[in-house]
Amino acid sequence: MGEILKMPTLVLETDKLLVYQQELGQWDNLNHLVVCKLTSHACIVDPFDGEYWYDFCTGQGIHITEIWLTHSHWDHVKGVQELVNVSGQKLIIRCHELEQQRGFEFDGITWWSHPKFTAVKQNFGGLEFTIHCTPGHTPGHVTIAGNGLLITGDCLFLGRCGRTDLYGGSKDQQRQSLLYLSDIISILDGESVVLPGHRYPLADGTNPTVLKLSDFVIANEALNSVGNDEDWNSLDFLAFDDNMAAKARRQEAQNSEDVL
Ligand SMILES: [Fe+2]
Repeated sequence: MGEILKMPTLVLETDKLLVYQQELGQWDNLNHLVVCKLTSHACIVDPFDGEYWYDFCTGQGIHITEIWLTHSHWDHVKGVQELVNVSGQKLIIRCHELEQQRGFEFDGITWWSHPKFTAVKQNFGGLEFTIHCTPGHTPGHVTIAGNGLLITGDCLFLGRCGRTDLYGGSKDQQRQSLLYLSDIISILDGESVVLPGHRYPLADGTNPTVLKLSDFVIANEALNSVGNDEDWNSLDFLAFDDNMAAKARRQEAQNSEDVL
């Protein structure tokens, strides 16, 4: 613990909140810290490095009280135990219960339990957000909306969407989630900021970490293909021929054997 070398970027400030973003680790993970100005309480979404965020918050007089997980892939939960260890206080950790289908558990976790393609309200500090259950990348992926932000995790990156060929993923559910989110997005303020779980380049070669919603809906290849069968089925980022996909196939096969 100590001083941090690289300060996070303030990507949104309103009269109610501050949102900080930092890219951490070798996998281009984007972490987001949402701070309630009224209470100085903060929620960290998908922490990759627990000590980093603890040190930053301590220096700023901010108290992390909650950890929200968009999903349970290791690069999104790596910092949870670290943060619990360094903070020395009880933190509320939230994730959707369908992530248990991947075998994810965490001591003392609080599960969201609403059905797929529906939403619930969630408060922390003096702020209220909407938690949308948007499976496809994983069984219980959530997308967080409200107060001028849309945190999309690995459901939607700025230029495309998350892969669906990892263990527990589903191409059909991903498509249904994107159709569901298209309706949600259509009624959000175009000035809202979209904050994805990874920094991946757009089709035009630029590589931003934040986009305004009105620019995001133009730039996102997945959202622009989801309404057309041919376009959707031709997307080349839904599945990859790599070791992680092979591992997912082995896990699925093992599950089938266990059932027989
Ligand atoms: Fe992921």
